[in-house]
Amino acid sequence: MVPDSRLIIALDVTDREEALQISRKIGGLVDAIKVNYPLILSCGLGIVPEIKKYANVIADFKVADIPNTNRLICEETFKAGADAIICQGFVGNDSVKACVDVAAQFGKEVYVVTEMSHPGAIDFIQKHAMDLVDVAIKNGASGIIAPATRPERLSEIKRRSKDLKILSPGVGAQGGDARTTLDAGADFIIVGRSIYNAKDPYQAAIDLIGQLRR
Ligand code: C5P
Repeated sequence: MVPDSRLIIALDVTDREEALQISRKIGGLVDAIKVNYPLILSCGLGIVPEIKKYANVIADFKVADIPNTNRLICEETFKAGADAIICQGFVGNDSVKACVDVAAQFGKEVYVVTEMSHPGAIDFIQKHAMDLVDVAIKNGASGIIAPATRPERLSEIKRRSKDLKILSPGVGAQGGDARTTLDAGADFIIVGRSIYNAKDPYQAAIDLIGQLRR
């Protein structure tokens, strides 16, 4: 994924028509549309190729299983047309490697979650965030997920992550700021509710891109 607008929308709506309408409107503005369980569980994986007409698709399935199951999940996701998948690193090197191996077969990308953006991330996952960065590097992932809600942590993770791409959720509804997140080291910001719940999602995306280009 090559940065242009640097904005990725998290399309966490559950209505198919709304999802396609938003994708149609803002697909040309964003670098990718991220889909997660709320949309896929309500509409099925078949919505991926439909959204792909408008933008690259990142499947945020936070894949976290044994290597064989991870392999099967990645195969189905890439067969459906997703350009990238997000997996968890805490399940270990072999499980992440299984995702990266499948992605390589399909010419796709894998992003590994390091520290999550919500307050509960401090309970367990934050303590191991740097190890998870190392897991991503060691296994040849394209990039990592790191929090926009903690810019100082994002900067530390950036220093550790060398040239991995950083996708950063938590801008807007979770309290993170778009520009601060880029300055702290993110290559892309991921924004959900502040765009899809806005009166005018197109204008909300334009406003965010304006902030990113300042
Ligand atoms: O609505 P909001 O902008 O908070 O959406 C953030 C999106 O990014 C959601 O899809 C959420 O699941 C995802 N995400 C996150 N923090 C992570 C990883 C993914 O918020 N560490």
